[in-house]
Amino acid sequence: MDKKVSIIGAGMTGSTTAHWLAEREIADLVLVDVVEGMPQGKSLDLSQALPVIGKDVIITGSNDYEATAGSDIVVITAGLPRKPGMSRDDLLTANAEIVRKAVMETITRSPEAVYVILTNPLDTMAYLAMKLGKLPRERIVGQAGVLDSARMRAFVAMELKVSVENINCYVLGGHGDEMVPLTRHSNVAGIPLCEILPPDRLEAIVNRTRKGGGEIISLLKTGSAYYAPAVAVAQMVEAILKDKHLIIPASAYMQGEYGLKDIFFGAPVQLGRKGVEKIFEYQLDETERAALDKSADAVRQTTEAMLNLVKF
Ligand SMILES: NC(=O)c1ccc[n+]([C@@H]2O[C@H](COP(=O)([O-])OP(=O)(O)OC[C@H]3O[C@@H](n4cnc5c(N)ncnc54)[C@H](O)[C@@H]3O)[C@@H](O)[C@H]2O)c1
Repeated sequence: MDKKVSIIGAGMTGSTTAHWLAEREIADLVLVDVVEGMPQGKSLDLSQALPVIGKDVIITGSNDYEATAGSDIVVITAGLPRKPGMSRDDLLTANAEIVRKAVMETITRSPEAVYVILTNPLDTMAYLAMKLGKLPRERIVGQAGVLDSARMRAFVAMELKVSVENINCYVLGGHGDEMVPLTRHSNVAGIPLCEILPPDRLEAIVNRTRKGGGEIISLLKTGSAYYAPAVAVAQMVEAILKDKHLIIPASAYMQGEYGLKDIFFGAPVQLGRKGVEKIFEYQLDETERAALDKSADAVRQTTEAMLNLVKF
């Protein structure tokens, strides 16, 4: 294939991203991890699944960044996941160093790549990667909104017993407990959620969405969610490689949109071959605006903590 995607971190989310991407047959894949033998073993296993589903994809596992050279897209999933009771911000110190290494090792080998970041705390790790790699804002995007919106869609589908395909949900803001599910703009077959669900049920779904990651961590006990985060990354990678101009919620660098500057923040982002093509703005009412500002404050705090930690 003439497209190459490198995934840094071959743990649960990284290897599952490779799985979802291999099924799409849109690029050759490289998995890199620090654990010796692990990315090689997972790549071999995944390669041996492909004859069964009839997909031709070259999947390489390595502990050496040289294997990533010439990538069209670099996905960063390397880093510690949360344990029960932890917030995403608790991962800052450990993951900043891991993301630094991943960016510095890949940027010289794939100077034109678009970066898709998954490592938490997401908005801050995307900011760090952009600064370290000296990337223009087009070439870096963080995965958060597709996942958070998909969680909300799943909860609405369970509640109403309708197809997930009929449900459109939009979750904006930072990837933390202050995220902002937009209930006025979310709908079931065009009918706004607030007209189809009683207020108490809608509020319960909003709260469950905000805590969706934590709910899974407390059940798994030994790691965090990976199927849904990974398929969200795969959708973003496909949109970029196929130049789809797809508008999805994702974390992008704000340059005045929503009145915000110099932070990564979840907003409707148009993705195409160059990466972030455009950021769309919703008309927000007072309550939505206040929730967004609160979420932005939380992201700003973590980003400032990172800036005190990392020397550029
Ligand atoms: N943004 C989101 O929506 C979202 C969703 C799920 C997980 N996450 C985050 O993604 C990250 C990974 O989660 P996971 O479940 O895959 O964890 P995991 O522990 O299963 O995998 C992480 C992998 O990173 C590897 N790693 C560590 N340092 C490395 C380095 N310097 N270079 C290469 N690889 C390195 C580890 O060996 C491990 O295999 C975590 O920070 C988690 O919080 C984000």
